[in-house]
Amino acid sequence: MAIVSVSGSDLLARDEAIIELKEYFSALSVRKGRPLTYKIKTYGCQLNEADSEKLTGMLESIGLNECVDTEVGDIVIFNTCAVRENAEDRLFGNLGIIKSDAKADKDMIVGVCGCMMKVPENVEKIQKSFPYVDLVFDPQQIHMFPVFLRDSLRRKKQLVNISSEDYIVDDSLVPIVRKRKFRALVPIMYGCNNFCTYCIVPYARGRERSRDFYSIITELRNLEANGYKEVMLLGQNVNSYKGPNGETFVDILKEASKMTGFSRVRFMSSHPKDISDEVIDIMANSTNIETHLHLPLQSGSDRILKLMNRPYTVEKYLKTVDQFRTKVPNGSISTDIIVGFPGETEEDFQGTLDVVNKVKYDSAFTFQYSIRPGTVAAKMENQIPADVVKDRFGRLLEIQNDYVYKSNQAKVGLTEEVLIEGGSNTAPDILTGRTRSNHLVNFTIPKNLQKPDFTADDYEGMLAMVKFTHARPYSVDGELVEFL
Ligand code: 5AD
Ligand code: SF4
Repeated sequence: MAIVSVSGSDLLARDEAIIELKEYFSALSVRKGRPLTYKIKTYGCQLNEADSEKLTGMLESIGLNECVDTEVGDIVIFNTCAVRENAEDRLFGNLGIIKSDAKADKDMIVGVCGCMMKVPENVEKIQKSFPYVDLVFDPQQIHMFPVFLRDSLRRKKQLVNISSEDYIVDDSLVPIVRKRKFRALVPIMYGCNNFCTYCIVPYARGRERSRDFYSIITELRNLEANGYKEVMLLGQNVNSYKGPNGETFVDILKEASKMTGFSRVRFMSSHPKDISDEVIDIMANSTNIETHLHLPLQSGSDRILKLMNRPYTVEKYLKTVDQFRTKVPNGSISTDIIVGFPGETEEDFQGTLDVVNKVKYDSAFTFQYSIRPGTVAAKMENQIPADVVKDRFGRLLEIQNDYVYKSNQAKVGLTEEVLIEGGSNTAPDILTGRTRSNHLVNFTIPKNLQKPDFTADDYEGMLAMVKFTHARPYSVDGELVEFL
């Protein structure tokens, strides 16, 4: 698979398409006698969220606004995820639901992108069963969305544009409208070379491509200058970032840690095989890098890890955990765990429970193994029966949930800095936010500290000192001490 660096003339073609679309939709808006709207439905991970922010940027640049009160707009885009089967089922269910709207309004446009569209069977299913989908396009070519949209309007027939190449385009050349005014998602690299045997991502997102170092740092500086308080550095495997002149993830973290306008620098995901001591040291010594490490375990059995093509052992994993807990004593650890990988025995599963009991994760994303056609594991014998997987999954959840609760309980009595993520306009005295260790907090504002002219949005991105009063299974309650 070749890596294609997107050329200036491609981007010029994209800009010309934007001008053409602007005219088309402005005429359509006059014809309909109302402003036009778009809706983007995003499934899956933060990288998809980041892609949706680019789609938003391009849709707004052609003159549409997000529709907030209904499920369908004049343009509906499904940004899909292929990591597990249930996300796929949801897409087909939702496509079914909008069928009547799409048929009733001949001008409505339905587009589908995201990882699912890199699996040929899914595209074939859309071609066969969902003719009212106007446009299927490549998740690696989000930047060319206006060209695909214009071409599909010209063609008046379903347009499918999926490429077998890997693309890299400088993110600063794509319009972005960010979903949250305090949080910026910043992909630093795309794709994955790890080929864990269960995972579809390397097929869907292609080989690893790192963004230009200077471009990332410039983007971060601009975000800081524009008042963003939180930045999330994203990549399927951020630690394997390789800049064009040998720059590493540590170099990015070092620069970000100097940007004091950011109260939180977050990053995900880290692969246990290449998280370095240096990353942990920077986390320990900085004032703005989150004290939270997301370290996907997947399985607590060396035998299964080998079958998964995850090149680390439980011993090495636990060493990293120990190092983190020692150097970042108030930090938190979260993980991803898969239950029921082909050939997983009760003993292997006990290994996973052992690690969970040793690490006592502050939070965890737990998954039942889902067969992904085309991956190595899909062809393995000894697929585990669904009832066994379900049983193990339930047992894991019960144990892990208890650690989440305990982690929340350990916060009670402490006072910490919380970055406010928002609140609800119906309960103006309650706000939500996160600690530097990524604990979710709901807190009340005492009467004398309330800001009567503030809406929930106005609090977003502010920092507050909060005293934690009560633990819940998935969050901590608290009371505001002061706004910072
Ligand atoms: N089945 C179940 N979970 C999976 N994940 C990835 N592929 C699969 C699969 N086939 C999980 C992994 C990964 C997370 C993003 O999704 O735990 O870390
Ligand atoms: Fe998938 Fe493994 Fe790459 Fe993560 S590291 S995206 S689990 S192949």
